[in-house]
Amino acid sequence: MQATLFTPNITDAGHAHDCAGRANPEGNMNRQYELKELIQSGNFVDGKWLEAADHARFSVSNPATGESIAQVADSGPADARAATDAAARALPAWRDRLPKERSVILHKWAALIMANQDSLGALISLEQGKPLAEGKGEVAYGASYVSWFADEATRIYGDIIPQQQRGKRMTAIREPIGVVAAITPWNFPLAMIARKIAPALAAGCTVVAKPAEDTPLTASALVLLAHGAGVPAGALNLITASREHAIAAVADWLEDPRVRKITFTGSTPVGKYLARESAGTLKKLSLELGGNAPFIVFDDADLEAAVDGMLVSKFRNGGQTCVCPNRVYVQAGVYERFGEMLSRRVAALKVAPATDAAAQIGPMINARALDKIARHVDDAVEHGARVLAGGRQLAELGPNYYAPTVLADANHDMLLCREETFGPVVAMFKFETEEEAILAANDTPFGLASYFYSESPKRIDRVSRALETGIVGVNEGALASEAAPFGGVKESGYGREGSKYGLDDYLSIKYICQGNLA
Ligand code: SIN
Repeated sequence: MQATLFTPNITDAGHAHDCAGRANPEGNMNRQYELKELIQSGNFVDGKWLEAADHARFSVSNPATGESIAQVADSGPADARAATDAAARALPAWRDRLPKERSVILHKWAALIMANQDSLGALISLEQGKPLAEGKGEVAYGASYVSWFADEATRIYGDIIPQQQRGKRMTAIREPIGVVAAITPWNFPLAMIARKIAPALAAGCTVVAKPAEDTPLTASALVLLAHGAGVPAGALNLITASREHAIAAVADWLEDPRVRKITFTGSTPVGKYLARESAGTLKKLSLELGGNAPFIVFDDADLEAAVDGMLVSKFRNGGQTCVCPNRVYVQAGVYERFGEMLSRRVAALKVAPATDAAAQIGPMINARALDKIARHVDDAVEHGARVLAGGRQLAELGPNYYAPTVLADANHDMLLCREETFGPVVAMFKFETEEEAILAANDTPFGLASYFYSESPKRIDRVSRALETGIVGVNEGALASEAAPFGGVKESGYGREGSKYGLDDYLSIKYICQGNLA
């Protein structure tokens, strides 16, 4: 069996069991569900699985075959409103629970997720298409956020402000912001929703959530397990909706003054829409948006390490991650050699359905995604790109497969330079000087992640400071970790997920000034 490309810096895949075991040894945190038991078709509102108000449903399909897996609730504004009603009702009691009590429940949830790693991993692969090993890796990745924030729940400190006037005591405390709306993407159907719901619940907020229409089943399974772990009715609510109905459903949350925060991962145009449309009630927003990440290989790089880093960062999830390198800048002295080394490795990647244990790249999520990839590659070739590997659809495998591709001689007139390809395509640009590479790397409205490879300590210091992104990988392609702050600058959004900073987005600071004390 070939190695998986997914190698996040998970530190505690087993930790979730240990913590929860200590916290609640009698709990049912080891209950194992069969895959089919995890599949839910309804909305989860106020602790109950419900049909959409108008009984509408839409079909969820397997991207490897195009076949329907399940029919799920196609929600509208009435369902969104019911979810907010439940979350608003549940808020006072959840907010008033001791942080330690919330922590115990979250640890138990993390343990249940890990106890069901196999079936959740299979469900992710089924509806999203990633290879099974990556699906299971994502389960551990998602659980690591839940157990991280279970711990963080007990560390929400305030401050006593040094006294300014006699007879007055000034303190700052941090309070849950209120009802949170979480809108999540299809590329990591478990990890992305986990890393929004877990900090919200840890902070004492209640949640209404809507997963992407391509991958609602994993999110519903996660909510099922949260309920099993003891998250009370109303504290976590989830509605599913098709592409056609989602805008109307979510609009209800954007206008409702009880929803105090929106957390979203997805495209920049949708992020801007959410910011604009929620401005009427001035909600707090966390937006994790598009990336268009640069990856720079300097002449003084360890080329083997750079090729390894490129494989991990670019081909994880078939190139469908926000932090995937989209523009690869290679210095002239190593350009041809790097291209040869990389294309040899890329051509050897195994493209296959998740059911094939050797699969390293699965199908793309849908026909729209495949069309965009093909359009970008065709446009690049028309503008003078050389195809070093791949460069074609793999229709013989199924409807949504594209060969891992390496293109040389990319230039800034190409579509793939301006837009994220979100697929398994490496486009190599040639550069001469460090200044030129930095200017080109920063020449984008986006600023989520960047990567560079160099063995020079001075250059490492200069370039890490010069790159205008929220995340920088230096001689490293696998950046994901629950302990690190994830988020961007510029039009890649604002807010941070994970790490000790990740709770701040779900809290507001209250200043209390007590007088007449002298
Ligand atoms: C994303 O694609 O938005 C997240 C990827 C990650 O967590 O590494």
